[in-house]
Amino acid sequence: MGYLSKFVGVCAAVTLLSVTVVGAEEKDPTKARVPADQIADAKAMKNPVASTPESIAKGKALYEGKGTCFNCHGKEGKGDGPAGAILNPSPRNFTNCKFHKKRKDGELFWVIKNGSPGTGMVSLVPAAITEEEAWTIINYERSFCKGGEE
Ligand code: HEC
Repeated sequence: MGYLSKFVGVCAAVTLLSVTVVGAEEKDPTKARVPADQIADAKAMKNPVASTPESIAKGKALYEGKGTCFNCHGKEGKGDGPAGAILNPSPRNFTNCKFHKKRKDGELFWVIKNGSPGTGMVSLVPAAITEEEAWTIINYERSFCKGGEE
């Protein structure tokens, strides 16, 4: 088989694969991820990084950089990053305003620090980012919800 036909074969296989995995869905995004015995403490945590245009811009750089968040959550925050496509449940869609309304910053922080057991969301603090960087990214993640009260 020539190089070109091999290449075409690989492309076809990849296309097939992406068709078969597209079926994965988010696990109910309105249900809390923090265990019941820790949720009060998580909700009480305050984001020490003020949400300003500067911190949101810093959060974007971390989200698309060393935080590696975009790989799964996608650059647009829709949960459709290249690595996210093979995950079941699929990564959180941050453009969903209903999700943001359900969560305090501290609950998001808890998941970034501890991961969401049984899913592709692993602990990223301190493996990839510091606690302060996680809070900074949370300010950016909030900005994916454009619909306000939706
Ligand atoms: C390897 C893929 C992957 C990467 C990389 C990743 N995530 Fe996730 N993330 C997921 C998946 C999958 C879920 C859905 C977990 C669930 O449904 O419980 C998720 C869920 C979340 C949630 C929602 C938690 C909740 O309360 O429901 C937050 C917040 C989050 N990720 C933040 C981040 C941040 C910030 C980064 C980068 C520092 C990041 N993720 C990187 C896969 C990933």
